Amino acid sequence: MLRAVVIGTGEYLPEKIMTNHDFAQTLETSHEWIVERTGIIQRHIAAEGENTSDLATIAGQNALKDFGISPDSIDLVILATTTPDDTMPSTASKVQHSLGIKNGAAFDVNAACSGFVYAMSIANSFIVSRQAKRVMVIGAETYSRIMNWEDRGTCILFGDGAAAVILEAQEAKGTNTDRGILFSKIHSDGQYTELLKTTGGVSSTKNAGYLTMVGREIFRHAASKMPASVEEGLLETGLGKDEIDWLVPHQANMRILASVAQKLGIGEDKVIATAPMHANTSAASIPLALHQAAKDGRISRGNLIACPALGAGLTWGCILLRW
Ligand code: ACO
Repeated sequence: MLRAVVIGTGEYLPEKIMTNHDFAQTLETSHEWIVERTGIIQRHIAAEGENTSDLATIAGQNALKDFGISPDSIDLVILATTTPDDTMPSTASKVQHSLGIKNGAAFDVNAACSGFVYAMSIANSFIVSRQAKRVMVIGAETYSRIMNWEDRGTCILFGDGAAAVILEAQEAKGTNTDRGILFSKIHSDGQYTELLKTTGGVSSTKNAGYLTMVGREIFRHAASKMPASVEEGLLETGLGKDEIDWLVPHQANMRILASVAQKLGIGEDKVIATAPMHANTSAASIPLALHQAAKDGRISRGNLIACPALGAGLTWGCILLRW
């Protein structure tokens, strides 16, 4: 059978860094409050004129360059984002062109903070059904553009960034020792759309609006659905919790990460956490964490990685992946 195996990763974080202290200048908040409730210390913010496609393009270029992969060999680009450059064309089409990729297809996926898990699940389906051989999956966001900078309950939580993962179809035995995606499952329940949303959109208000959230409810859903989605993967594959080398969850905030790890009985030493330095970069958060941990040598070939996520929709899901 075919497996979708990660053969390269790349990232891009905008140059500008905004600290918690910067918020304390204009809002009734403090570094201490933000750290205690979220574990977030800083976030990157895209410059004016620096769009989601720009972040995604640099992340994609880095992945191609650092792993010696030719753009000609990529036959599908899936870009997970909730903050596209424009209503149309898709940001993926722009990125495909700026990366010099001419083969196959390109499209965006909007599943908010679950976007990367959704995109990986779709990429996996294309690969195992032999519709694509090399897929670039990118998570790229400029949430700074949809923040209400006067709402201290939301604007402190998010940041901008992008990361790319290149998946390749490789023949495998079909066992749990294979490299590649061993399990992927995505979910959605539209009864919860009001919990996390923007105040506008193309068809409703003709503008993007800004993000609003019922924080406590989102926390509750994330803390239950993310671990449940990992359990679902373990049950289906027959893998054990103790076989997970790294838990790389969507980086909502440190309290959510701690709660997910605790519910799964996974030690904090096995959790990759970038939320303190990046804040919540939505669809970019898991690939950023994967890239950084692979680069610094924590994640190595053969490791079993669990990536659960939850986002607006509500959407949620998990991939189990052997590096
Ligand atoms: N600084 C100071 N005080 C604040 C701030 C702030 N930045 N934000 C809120 N407060 C105040 C509130 O106004 C409230 O004051 P009040 O009691 O006088 O009304 C008080 O702090 C407590 O507010 P809560 O919202 O109840 O605080 P809570 O302990 O729930 O923490 C938080 C808020 C961190 C947002 C939490 O609910 C959370 O982690 N939710 C998950 C949300 C999330 O991460 N969403 C990301 C998108 S979805 C995803 O990625 C899964």
